[in-house]
Amino acid sequence: MGRGHLFFAAAVLLAVILRSPCPEASGEDGPSLYVGSEACEPCHEEEYESFRQYAKKSNSYRSIERLEKGLSPEDLRKCYSCHTTGYGRPGGFISVEATPGLKNAGCEVCHGPGERHVQTGGAGFIKKRLTREDCEVCHTSERVRAFRYKPLIHGGGH
Ligand code: HEC
Ligand code: HEC
Ligand code: HEC
Ligand code: HEC
Repeated sequence: MGRGHLFFAAAVLLAVILRSPCPEASGEDGPSLYVGSEACEPCHEEEYESFRQYAKKSNSYRSIERLEKGLSPEDLRKCYSCHTTGYGRPGGFISVEATPGLKNAGCEVCHGPGERHVQTGGAGFIKKRLTREDCEVCHTSERVRAFRYKPLIHGGGH
């Protein structure tokens, strides 16, 4: 990590700590909250860069915007569960204004909420082994007729 990154990591940690007193904050035993992909960058630069450049998820909010005009607010909310990060869950996406860092489907849609992992400097608290079920929440059977596990499990991320 370079200096800039160390500084960034410190800023992210501070942001996470400052967020803690809000009502939704996870206590020691509460759920880990979503922090957004940028929070992962200082420590996982390679994955972050690759994700940002190649994964469509990293721009998935744009897909909503492309069709936004013809949609009612209610229909729009339906898009959020797959095209944003953590919508409807503790610390997840609320709106572009309130949670800009969560507007795309980021690292945490696959690896789970990262607050505690970041707070502890990477000492666990993150999901590594992923299964087909982790993907099928969004890549539903009606959307993908044949979602082949082996070749695809490492796709769409980094
Ligand atoms: C159940 C999860 C889910 C929901 C709900 C959902 N999407 Fe998607 N969307 C996906 C997935 C997964 C893809 C990737 C391609 C595929 O598998 O069809 C996708 C692809 C897209 C694309 C194509 C992007 C491209 O590369 O051309 C657009 C546009 C889009 N979605 C817009 C929307 C909008 C607008 C809504 C809300 C009305 C919505 N989606 C709701 C999961 C979802
Ligand atoms: C589409 C799902 C998906 C997304 C999104 C995703 N990953 Fe991953 N990630 C994976 C899979 C699959 C593995 C491999 C797990 C295994 O070894 O079984 C992995 C592994 C990792 C590892 C461990 C690497 C190693 O070699 O041990 C790190 C670190 C990681 N991801 C970070 C990130 C970061 C940071 C982001 C966002 C910039 C991200 N991931 C986004 C699916 C994803
Ligand atoms: C302060 C630094 C730091 C930040 C920020 C950070 N990580 Fe990590 N992460 C680590 C360290 C250290 C490891 C352990 C690396 C190893 O064992 O090779 C790790 C490991 C992982 C692994 C592999 C877990 C395993 O069991 O091997 C994944 C996946 C991961 N991180 C994802 C993320 C995601 C997603 C984010 C953002 C939400 C993130 N990390 C933010 C430091 C960090
Ligand atoms: C939170 C919902 C969600 C989850 C969970 C999810 N995806 Fe996706 N994925 C999407 C959306 C949305 C898109 C389309 C983004 C767009 O084009 O707007 C997408 C796109 C993709 C693509 C298209 C190619 C590309 O470069 O992005 C692949 C491949 C993919 N996902 C694989 C996976 C795999 C493998 C997993 C599980 C390990 C997974 N996804 C989990 C929502 C999800």
